[in-house]
Formats: sequence, structure tokens, C-alpha cells
Amino acid sequence: MVLGPGRVACVSGRRSDRGESKTKDQDDQDLGRTGNYAPVTKHQVLCYVGGNVAIAEHLTAHTFSTAYPSYESTRLLDELRAKEYPALGSHTYLDFTAGSLFARSQLTRHLELLERSLFGNPHSTNLASSTSTEFVARARSAVLRFFHASPDEWEVVFTGNASHALKLVGESYPFDAGDRFLLTFDNHNSVNGIREFARARGATATYVPVVLPEMRVDDADLERGLAMARQGGHNLFAFPAQSNFSGVQHPFDWIARAHAAGWDVLLDAAAFTGTNRLDLSEWNPDFVVQSFYKLFGYPTGVGCLLARKSALAKLRRPWFSGGTITVASVQGDKYYLAEGASAFEDGTLDYLSIPAVEIGLEYIEAIGMDIIHERVQCLTGWLLDQLLPLTQTNGRPLVRLYGPPTTDRRGGVVTFNFYGADGRAIDHRLVEQLANDANISLRTGCFCNPGGGEIALGLTGTELSSCFRQREHENHFTIDDFRLCIDGKSTGAVRVSFGLISDVHDVDRFIAFAKGFIGR
Ligand SMILES: Cc1ncc(COP(=O)(O)O)c(C=O)c1O
Repeated sequence: MVLGPGRVACVSGRRSDRGESKTKDQDDQDLGRTGNYAPVTKHQVLCYVGGNVAIAEHLTAHTFSTAYPSYESTRLLDELRAKEYPALGSHTYLDFTAGSLFARSQLTRHLELLERSLFGNPHSTNLASSTSTEFVARARSAVLRFFHASPDEWEVVFTGNASHALKLVGESYPFDAGDRFLLTFDNHNSVNGIREFARARGATATYVPVVLPEMRVDDADLERGLAMARQGGHNLFAFPAQSNFSGVQHPFDWIARAHAAGWDVLLDAAAFTGTNRLDLSEWNPDFVVQSFYKLFGYPTGVGCLLARKSALAKLRRPWFSGGTITVASVQGDKYYLAEGASAFEDGTLDYLSIPAVEIGLEYIEAIGMDIIHERVQCLTGWLLDQLLPLTQTNGRPLVRLYGPPTTDRRGGVVTFNFYGADGRAIDHRLVEQLANDANISLRTGCFCNPGGGEIALGLTGTELSSCFRQREHENHFTIDDFRLCIDGKSTGAVRVSFGLISDVHDVDRFIAFAKGFIGR
């Protein structure tokens, strides 16, 4: 087990570190030695300088509040959990990366708004229509404010979800023969899918690997990838702000590096923005995608593409539809796309749900993203502290972690497999079943992130190609076929993820559940 400076990241109280490799000075800062942050306890310094298993045991013996004193400053979230989330009851919800939960007051405010206002289809000027137009515009402004995105530079395109926003970019990016699409292995399938648009137009899709055990990108690999930009061509580089597989937070300084090397940058923020602040006055990717239910649970069915105006102007829509044009003619066989975001919003927007986005953003603002972030960091650290030292009856570690073992440059997504007394990975489907029985919601599988899964589980390209090449698998390949084909290797992992109202009891209940695998 590795102990490092990230173990004590909770002392800082500042918002998410953006991934640059840390220097000794930065480590000093994290430890509070410079006096900029909360003072460091003797215990925390011990963690840093010791870094051995004996100290790990010492750490677990400490109470949570001693190890993570800043958790105390997030107590507001306990009050909200009790008051605002009646459906949660005694359930242990550990699947926030899949979907956050909504507060009762979000629903109440939305319902009140719908009851007192007459909303109609926004493509008109009547009273009901104008009301919808007004509230959609308010939601757009609220999104820009939330992400500190200047309305002079950014457009908000409302979409059905993050995947829909990614598809808009993929199908409209002006890929041409010889152009490049560069992406990390660590990506959601909805980003991977863009490679099909790229290749169909003769562009090359290239993956930058992530490397075990932390599942980060090796800088030399990134540099090689970025050097592949086609001079004078269109080059798109896509990566997730936070991995939905390993929890790694990839460095935002990649954005400027990619720009300097001739790339447009697509940042998938879907797994990031629920528990981390994204400040678009500080970072300037060209496209950012997300789903609002991942931020505040309600509404589902609304996401957005945040795009720089200059980047949006580069996109070429492959069709037109109701809502996206100023004029289209049948006999004249011509159409004119509307300006800005409208050109990308096909048909009628979800004008009843979109006002709930403003309500959700206000709810998060009222709590403060820094508090949410702090709590999630503490819980992630506490989970790792307790999970990693657990041993199986054969003396080997109970879990194998896929991702960073400390809170250094990672978010609240923790993915691993349990290992049995026979030394083999315990089938993740069994873990999920037992978790369901124990009233715990978690996620298992590969989380739509096949690149992450393949690296974590040691599945090689050769192995996978030979499976896919088998005649019977030409057009049809089920997950059971996959299991048989890769011959005994694990096909998935177990994921625990925290969100705004997770608490320390959730971690404790999960650890008690995990201990049930000892001797299995
Ligand atoms: C990193 C990441 N990107 C994209 C998506 C796709 O989001 P949606 O299914 O809401 O379109 C997800 C969903 O889990 C995700 O975690």
C-alpha cells in the first residue's frame, strides 16, 4: 500500500487540484507547511513521511474525524440529507457518478413554477410561448454563470444528455481526409463513438493509453499524440475531466498544450461537475459536455454542450430540422441555419424541464461546490484508507484497486475487484447481487468505459481482436460470449462513487459489506 501526500488532501479546503505533476513545493503546500492552508496535525505529517504499512494500520485506528478534520465544515450536507432526501431512507447510495439524487425543494420549486406559469411551445410569440422562451433564456444564463463562462465567448446548446452533446460535436466537426481525432483510452463510449464519424470522413482516430496502477496518461505518450496534429487540418482531442472508471482527474493544463499543438479540445465533464468546480474563465476548452442529472439529480433528459462561439462556428451540421433554421425552402431547395445555439437544438426543446436546470444550479450554488467537493474528498480518502489494507485469509490484499490509492488528483469514484481466498477475482455480478441484498446501490461492469476496463483487467488488443474475428461473432457478440472468449479473465469491476449527500456512515456500511468477502 502506498501512502502519499494525497492522503491528507482534505486539510487544504481549496478546490480541486488540476493535475499538474506535483513538485516538492506543492506537496509542502498541501501539507500546510507554507501556512496557506489549515495547520497540519502530527498525524498527517506522519502519514507523509512514513509511507509504510505500519503507519497505514495506525491511520485506520484513528477515527475518521481525526484523519479528516475538514469534514466537520461540511455538516450542512447532513442537515440537507435528513431534510431533503426522504426517498433515501436507510439506503446506502454509492452510485452518484451514474446519477446524482435530487432534493425535495428542487421538485417543490419546479412544481410551483409550473403551477403558476403558463408554458407553451417556444417557437411562437404568444404569452405561453414567450414564458417558455424567457425561462429557457434564464436557464442558459444560469448555466453560463455557474461555470463562469462569459456570454461573449460561450454558447449553451441544450441537449438531451451528455451523449447527445457529444454526438452533435462528432457529427458536425469538419473532419476531412487526413484530419485527426485523438482521445484517451479512458473515455466513455459516447466519446469513443465519435471515432466512427471521424473515420467515415477519412480522419484518423488515435488513442493515448492510460497506465496502471493509477490509470493516468504517461506524459511522453500524450506528447507523441499531440505531435500528430495535421498542420492546417482539423484536429480534435477529447478527454474526460474525471474518469468515470478510475476517478482520475486528468490535467486541465492539457488544454493549453493541445491548443498550442493545433488541436481543438473536447472536455467530457459528465463525471466531474457533480462534485468539482469547473471554472471556464480559468480553463478554455472548445467544447464541454454534461448531463444535468449528474449534477443535481433532476431533471433527467437535459444536458448541454457548452461551446466557444468560435468553435461552434467551425461545426457543420449534417442536416437541418424544425427549430434550427431561419428559412428552409422546398421549391427553392435551400435552407439557412439559425445563429449560434439555435442551429444545434433540433425540434422543440424540453421547455418544461429546462427551467428546473436553473433551480438545480441555484440549489448547488446555495450549498457551495467547494463544500461538496471537500466532503467527497474526505469520504474518498476514508474509503481508500480502510479498503486497501484489508486482507484475504490467504494473506493477500482483499481488493485490487484500479486508480490512484490516495486523494491526489482524483475524484470520488473508486473502482476495484474483490479477490477470493483462492486468489481469483470474485465475479462482479455476484458482488452487485450481494450489494443489492445489503441495501447498497453500487455499479459493476465497465461503466461504458471499455478502454479503462481493458487496461484495468489486462485485456490485450490481440486477445480482443481474435475474439471479434471469430466467424460467429461477426455481427453478434453478447457479454456472455465475451466472457467465454477471454477465457476466465474478469470482464468487469466494482465501482463506488460519492456525491453531495454521501456521508461517513455510507463508507462504514460499505466497509462492513466488503469485510464480508474475507474468507469467501
Ligand atoms: C464521463 C462520462 N461521459 C459521458 C457520459 C454519458 O452521459 P449520459 O448517459 O447522461 O449521456 C457518462 C455517463 O455516465 C460519463 O460518466
